[in-house]
Amino acid sequence: MSKAWGGRFKEEMAQQVLAFNESITVDKRLYAQDIEGSIAHAMMLCQQSILSQTDADTIIEGLLTIKQQIESGNAQFSIEDEDIHMNIEKLLIKIIGPVGGKLHTGRSRNDQVATDMHLFARQAVQELIEAVRLLQQTIVQISEEYIEVVMPGYTHLQRAQPVLLSHHLMTYFWMLQRDKERLHDSLKRINVSPLGSGALAGTTFPINQRHTMELLEFEDIYPNSMDAVSDRDYLLETMNNMNLIMIHLSRLSEEIILWCSEEFNFIKLSDQYSTGSSIMPQKKNPDMAELVRGKTGSVTGHYIALLITLKGLPLAYNKDLQEDKKGFFDALDDTLSSLKIYSGMLSSLTVNHDNLKQSVNQDFSNATELADYLVTLGIPFREAHAITGRLVLDCIDKGRLLKDVSMKEYKDIDSRISENIHSILTPQSSVERRRNENGTSAQSVKNQIKKGKALL
Ligand code: ARG
Repeated sequence: MSKAWGGRFKEEMAQQVLAFNESITVDKRLYAQDIEGSIAHAMMLCQQSILSQTDADTIIEGLLTIKQQIESGNAQFSIEDEDIHMNIEKLLIKIIGPVGGKLHTGRSRNDQVATDMHLFARQAVQELIEAVRLLQQTIVQISEEYIEVVMPGYTHLQRAQPVLLSHHLMTYFWMLQRDKERLHDSLKRINVSPLGSGALAGTTFPINQRHTMELLEFEDIYPNSMDAVSDRDYLLETMNNMNLIMIHLSRLSEEIILWCSEEFNFIKLSDQYSTGSSIMPQKKNPDMAELVRGKTGSVTGHYIALLITLKGLPLAYNKDLQEDKKGFFDALDDTLSSLKIYSGMLSSLTVNHDNLKQSVNQDFSNATELADYLVTLGIPFREAHAITGRLVLDCIDKGRLLKDVSMKEYKDIDSRISENIHSILTPQSSVERRRNENGTSAQSVKNQIKKGKALL
């Protein structure tokens, strides 16, 4: 089998090396980017009179034919040709003859693969931004729908203070907003062209890198050819951005899973987004949320894997870098599908209003209300805290709640406590009185939602 680089070799490659060395099974996914980069390169070579117009036209036509063949399933890739770059070059020479061999003038696979991955990452980030935006839209939509619903707010997974369900849900909107902003920000580092850097040192041909940069709609070129071929920061950065998205979805997953347990019973997932058990007929399981939580582990793992691949890697290109793609593609697929599954799962869930209402009325999450109220009577907060704490303890002993304490008992604690104390202690009042800008009152949350919508 003749290799594109076979000239200085006497022996054939060992059979097991063929399989170990190849990347076509993974990087065939880059075919469109590879062809786009090659067409830009051929056009530039022609404009610089390095290629004749006829040769350039033949090459470009051949590349477009190959694209069609790949898309209609008629192209045959082989591991003998290692990767997508050499497979396409081989197909090109097969279709148009030896002139196809002129395409690689002034270029190396090192700047070629970097160009392909920059193009791929740019599109990936755009898709991620759109998927994040759609999920944010769903969160806004259900937050508006459930604006009346009060639920227990937790710290340490212990009942803390009542909050609006919408307030809780919108937390995830803002996490995703930061994720989206990070993705946007990363585009300025992704949108830089490595093409023309050659293997590492540049090229002796009179190429025009600004021309390919413009054709491929990059915003700049790498100032340093060695950096251009060995930089994988932009992949790491994007993977970490995916990682954070998944960590956020994983936190939400944990809550969804808790909320639809019989113990919490706050929500119901739709049948469409649940699964059953092969043995226990009663089961309805939140598998989608669990899968998202599970996939978070592998997305984080891929990020760490690339980080470690780069650690201690000398300049410039090393074959280690071929390992960057598998993890990136997997992480992208998992993150995109998780974002999409979440949009469907959230928009189809239902809230168990009665149970939420009941649960929030049967705890001590109104204790802060009482302490705050005592402060309005002039009692220092620390003292108000102690008085309320003692009353809570007494209630626990007697198996009752703060709302069950009689007016007379309240007057005994402090004669200035007024008749409206019981209404102040309701969860609705607790929520409504938190009117600060980012608080949980309906008005504050409505303003928050409005602010969020303006960012969509
Ligand atoms: N398949 C290689 C990769 O993905 C392409 C670059 C190979 N360059 C080289 N000099 N062997 O990294």
